[in-house]
Amino acid sequence: MNIPYRPLTLGLLAIAFSALVLGRAQAGGSHYFPPVVDPVVKEECGSCHIAFAPSMLPASSWKRMMDDLKNHFGADATIDPAMAARVTDYLANNAGDSGGRRYSDKLLRGVSTISAPLRITDLPKWVKEHRKVPDREWKHPRVRSKANCAGCHADAERGYYDE
Ligand code: HEC
Ligand code: HEC
Repeated sequence: MNIPYRPLTLGLLAIAFSALVLGRAQAGGSHYFPPVVDPVVKEECGSCHIAFAPSMLPASSWKRMMDDLKNHFGADATIDPAMAARVTDYLANNAGDSGGRRYSDKLLRGVSTISAPLRITDLPKWVKEHRKVPDREWKHPRVRSKANCAGCHADAERGYYDE
């Protein structure tokens, strides 16, 4: 008599659990980095990888990167100058030491803006947060690169990095 009810109970538990996880993710908190909303930036900077959240780097980093799109991590990401100006303004205005400051508090701690780091994945805090991630996960066919945030953070494109 009990047996037929078991799968139902487990199913309900699963639903309750995912609702809990979703609820937490949507509540935001310290693992939320507002995603790019500008359609031009999304298009120009989101075709080869996700459009990285501007608050993850200081303004100096974005300016340095935008100054040399021809040599962009081995890729040529050049765009026309008018577009580039718009993208640079957007990224700089929402950077982790300007408009996006309140989101980047921890990620950019101890980072000198003068050094203008080009990789989020080189930031000391990023390295620290990921030091326990095992080798096989980096090499997973679905991941392959540290820069492929969405390979592990399913909601990265919406700004959530809870896991
Ligand atoms: C033609 C493809 C292409 C376009 C377009 C492109 N990128 Fe990239 N980007 C790359 C490649 C390739 C890497 C290196 C990825 C890796 O290490 O796996 C990269 C890496 C990055 C990284 C460093 C990620 C890390 O490791 O922390 C940032 C930040 C970045 N891009 C920002 C931008 C911005 C901003 C734009 C728009 C102006 C842009 N990208 C457009 C190809 C591109
Ligand atoms: C191979 C999988 C993997 C990739 C790829 C990855 N992460 Fe993570 N990330 C993790 C795991 C696992 C954690 C949780 C670490 C912990 O809590 O011990 C984490 C934690 C984080 C945190 C901290 C959140 C918290 O709970 O404090 C941030 C922010 C973050 N990642 C951002 C990124 C960004 C940005 C990228 C891409 C540039 C990225 N991650 C790529 C697996 C990954």
